[in-house]
Parts: sequence; structure tokens; C-alpha cells
Amino acid sequence: MSFFRRREAPKVDLNRLPRHVAIIMDGNGRWAKSRGLPRRAGHAAGAETFRTIATFAKELGLEYLTVYAFSTENWKRPADEVEAIMKLLEKYLHEAIETMARDKVKMAFFGDLSLLPAHLQALCRKTQEISKGYDGCQVNICLNYGGRDELLRAAKAFAMDCVEGRADPGHLTQKAFGDYLYSAGVPDPDLIIRPSGEVRVSNFLLWQCAYAEFYFTDVLWPDFSKEELLRALAAYQGRSRRYGGV
Ligand code: IPE
Ligand code: IPE
Ligand code: MG
Repeated sequence: MSFFRRREAPKVDLNRLPRHVAIIMDGNGRWAKSRGLPRRAGHAAGAETFRTIATFAKELGLEYLTVYAFSTENWKRPADEVEAIMKLLEKYLHEAIETMARDKVKMAFFGDLSLLPAHLQALCRKTQEISKGYDGCQVNICLNYGGRDELLRAAKAFAMDCVEGRADPGHLTQKAFGDYLYSAGVPDPDLIIRPSGEVRVSNFLLWQCAYAEFYFTDVLWPDFSKEELLRALAAYQGRSRRYGGV
């Protein structure tokens, strides 16, 4: 018998899954660096992990999966890295369009798409349009997304509705404000996972995370596995959510 036993598979109750899991897909650069590879190789590996995890989320029966793919701050990176990320997104969306009818995955995008390359914008629109009628798992991809940017846009849109007589500031509720966000109609995330060892929010879902459970792990995103997701779900199921009550 070996001294080194495999870690036990995490126990997850499939009847008590969170409805909505969100993931900050971080650590691609460090994964590549540790292997002496260029950062873009880390992003390519991260895209593979996204495929695996999105498929697994659907198999598990999660209703919503939201992933942070590119932030409003990520434009600060070198142009060749940004370009490599955009190319990978394009490749992913082309493939998704091919397999969507089979998988019935509904895709949506959170973020200001107008700053993305035109062909990528068109692909996002096409993907969204095709999957509109599907009612399986909904995957939300955050692209040029920033929580503060989202809140500012919502505030501006609401102010404009007030100026033009369509809304009344005195009657604004949290629910009505939520409808001005990219996430309109999507329930708040129950569980937010951040791999890579960083313990921060990095401008992700600032409004929506109010009562989310957070799960941090040192695993870098390209190494994140189905088992890691199960571990996060098991940790979630061990938490007691009180929403300020007792
Ligand atoms: C996340 O991985 C991908 C994006 C932010 C686009 P990083 O590229 O941030 O990886 P690290 O944090 O440098 O390791
Ligand atoms: C957050 O990761 C954004 C995405 C994963 C898309 P970053 O790597 O950009 O965050 P910081 O800079 O470490 O806070
Ligand atoms: Mg990072």
C-alpha cells in the first residue's frame, strides 16, 4: 500500500448546486512563465480549460456560468498579448457557433463590445442571436467588462430615462436598477471562484457580488480541472448563507 493516497473526490450534492457560478479566469501568464513559454501560450491553455469547465458546468446542471475573459483594464497589456487574446476568442466563438445547436448552450456577453475588433463584435452578436432560443445552461462571457464601467453606464442610462420622462428617481428600486446592468435578468452569482492565488475582486461583478460566496485557490487557471470545480462546489455547500439574518 502506498503512503501517498489520492485525495478523496469532493462530495457534492447535485440537488443543492448553486444556480450561478462565476469565475475569474486568472493565472494564464504565470502558468506560461513557469514553463518558459510566451504568455499567449498560457491564454491558449486557459481557453482549453474554459471549454472543459463550460461543458462540465452544463453536464452538472448549473443554470448560469459567468466567466471573466477580458477586463476594461486589460487593454494596458502589450498589444501582441491583447491581439493573441482576441484571436483566441474569435476561434472559440467560431467553434461555439458550430456546436451550439448540439449543446443548446445559451451564450451572452457582458461588457462594452464596441471597443472590440469589428469581426469579433459581429461574432458575439451572431452567437447571441443563434442561442437566444436555447434554454439550457447560460454562459455569460465578460469581455471588455469592468464592474465600475457597468455601474457608470447604468447610472447614465437611468439618468437619461429620467430626463426623458421614462423613469422617476424617487421610485428607483434595486431590482429596477439591476435591469440597467449587463446582467439584467440573470440572478446574482451564488459562488465566485478565483484561481491563481490572488485574493481580490479586480472589478468583477461589483453590484452582483453583494452576497456571493467566494472561493480562492492557488491553482492557476490552465490547471483548473473538473475536480477543482467540484472542490469549490463542495466548499460552497459547506457554507451557511445568512444574507444579514441569523
Ligand atoms: C488571466 O490570466 C487572463 C486575462 C486577464 C486576460 P493573466 O494573463 O492575468 O495571468 P497572470 O495573472 O499574469 O498569471
Ligand atoms: C482579472 O485578472 C481579469 C481577468 C481574469 C479577465 P487580472 O490579471 O487582470 O487582475 P489583476 O490585475 O491581477 O488584479
Ligand atoms: Mg492576472
